[in-house]
Amino acid sequence: MSNQCWGPEDYNKGADFVPLFGRPVIELLDPKKEEKILDLGCGNGTLTKELADMGCDVLGVDSSKEMVEAARSLGLKAEVMDGEHLHFREEFDAVMSNAVLHWMNDQYAVVRGVWRALKPGGRFAAECGGEGCIRVLREGMKIALIKRGIDYRARNPWKFPELGEFSKILDNQGFKVAYIARIDRPTPLKNGLRCWLEVFANRHTEGFSQEEKELFYKEVEDYCRPLLYTEENGWVADYVRLRFLALKPQISE
Ligand code: BEZ
Repeated sequence: MSNQCWGPEDYNKGADFVPLFGRPVIELLDPKKEEKILDLGCGNGTLTKELADMGCDVLGVDSSKEMVEAARSLGLKAEVMDGEHLHFREEFDAVMSNAVLHWMNDQYAVVRGVWRALKPGGRFAAECGGEGCIRVLREGMKIALIKRGIDYRARNPWKFPELGEFSKILDNQGFKVAYIARIDRPTPLKNGLRCWLEVFANRHTEGFSQEEKELFYKEVEDYCRPLLYTEENGWVADYVRLRFLALKPQISE
């Protein structure tokens, strides 16, 4: 998994919209009362709590200790775990994941772990950044890093899967892909682009002084402004989602 570090405070500052956009995944999951559900990458537990409130027996896992503590403080069951190394065996009726898979380097390992975690007949409903997500933003960051002689690829923490490629990963594992779509979802950044960069681009600015960070943020803003900013709507990030529902057959072929 990428070594992005963020805690509940960062989340509240610049990323609180992440779980708010999680509704469609819950709808796709269609959770039933008393179902045993794994929330993969539960963050601060916002969506995990929605499932618990619906009467599901839900466990959240996240690689961040601080996030797990925040989820537990809501009275939820949560554990620190790396999504590429899930160690469950046929325990869950369903796995849900929102805005997490694009942070994982080895998406095959994640899908394998989810498959093993599901009971036969189980469901995997997820949404993550899809191919082309934040293209303009990434270009702005890339230009600012190249200018400093820094290898952008070495600092890129994201892998935004392409629809066909991800379908194949699911299919090769044995899942039946019931639904998959690539969706443009322009995302308003109510606290501005600078705040988003502070939360999400800390890998890009690793080792920078505060002064260097400020200059980096300004350069990225200047690049993105003509494409992502309007007086009327403020900053709107060019998010693209990949949303899917995959089913583990009752009997594996
Ligand atoms: C997301 O949470 O969906 C996201 C985070 C960083 C970059 C792009 C998307």
